[in-house]
Amino acid sequence: MRIAMIGTGYVGLVSGTCFSEFGHDVICVDKDHSKIDALRQGEIPIFEPGLKTLVRKNVDAGRLTFGTDLGAAVRSADAVFIGVGTPSRRGDGQADLTFVFEAAREIAAAIEGYTVVVTKSTVPVGTGRQVQDLIASLCDRDMFDVVSNPEFLREGAAIEDFMRPDRVVVGTSSEKARQVMEAIYRPLSLIQTPILFTSLESSELTKYAGNAFLATKITFINEIANLCEKVGADVHDVARGIGLDGRIGPKFLHPGPGFGGSCFPKDTRALLETSRMVETPLRIVDAVIDINENRKLEMAEKVIAACGGDVDGKKIAVLGLTFKPNTDDMRESPSLDILPKLQAHGARIHAYDPEGMKEAALLLTDINFCDNAYQTLDNADALVIITEWNEFRALDLDRVKQSMKTPVMVDLRNVYEPDLMVERGFSYTCIGRPVR
Ligand code: UDX
Repeated sequence: MRIAMIGTGYVGLVSGTCFSEFGHDVICVDKDHSKIDALRQGEIPIFEPGLKTLVRKNVDAGRLTFGTDLGAAVRSADAVFIGVGTPSRRGDGQADLTFVFEAAREIAAAIEGYTVVVTKSTVPVGTGRQVQDLIASLCDRDMFDVVSNPEFLREGAAIEDFMRPDRVVVGTSSEKARQVMEAIYRPLSLIQTPILFTSLESSELTKYAGNAFLATKITFINEIANLCEKVGADVHDVARGIGLDGRIGPKFLHPGPGFGGSCFPKDTRALLETSRMVETPLRIVDAVIDINENRKLEMAEKVIAACGGDVDGKKIAVLGLTFKPNTDDMRESPSLDILPKLQAHGARIHAYDPEGMKEAALLLTDINFCDNAYQTLDNADALVIITEWNEFRALDLDRVKQSMKTPVMVDLRNVYEPDLMVERGFSYTCIGRPVR
């Protein structure tokens, strides 16, 4: 199969590269010439484990190329994937589809033979039909079909998620398009991956419903963690206890400072907006968004309480800034709410993140960025772990304690065992676990 991938952002680049790993002939297209030039030199604009190696391997094999000429890429493709960004629109939180429609118009102008146009970007229900109508207004209806094929990639594990997904969802009512999609995903059928064929609308909604459900699961355990703190229960035991029930499942029950990232916050807001537009309120999703927003700020209050109710003039060492480990992505990271609130209360922040500091420097002000974890700690009044990078899981605790002015640790990811921390002489605060 010959595939054109429009957009070399996170979704486009990972998907295009993995399709070439399947053995397809892939061209990734972007309007940004400097980005394409960099990709041609083997420079990857995002940090994603394994991506650089996979890009190089497939470029060397001649299956993966990069270009800026969308028309040429579309003309030679059996399937064109739209993998452009759909950021939250200012004001109503709905997904901004400007780039999707722009790409659809350009695709329509270039189509010469039968082409399957696939929306890989996360788009609200009804967008596939709109894309179909738009292209049909510009070219012959027999020349194309529109398909929805959402991605379920987690940052930091995107290649594994693409190569070994739990399922693939494909929305189309056309038999011809179905055959093309079956051919594209054949390598996954061979390893028994369920390929679910649905209507355009069901496929589009599956993506949002899936992310909203996961966001709800996290928010649920976060609220249970709050309750654990009040009644002396341990949220890890409760999460394990409920997660072993096959109907609930063990994943996404880890409490933390609130979910962030490029998907859950944006997609829950967009789903809520869709539900409002069709006057079918999703009250659970509404509550999840609200609780999660407040939670991030409550985490700052937790730090202030751990510091004896006052952080004015105090030095706070912060480990981890990104919304999760193994990414340089700062989008909607809890640190973006927690740190400004601590600063507003007079705290001085010294922070370290293995990959996120460049991006963080654009979004946060007055942060002293450090070269490593220990450098943040010198004479610190408290240490706050915001992101659970592996290198923060095995800190030399004696060194940590000796470096700090007062051994106060606020572990917002429950990386350490409360009993051990007390034994080692720390004043330790975590999420939803009793500290003796
Ligand atoms: C998510 C979805 O998992 C993926 O399927 C979708 O396509 C894109 O959005 P991603 O945002 O990369 O992926 O990260 P994910 O691992 O899902 O974590 C999202 C947020 O939830 C992070 O801030 C993470 O720290 C938080 N989280 C996750 C928890 O707080 N607890 C958990 O148990 C799991």
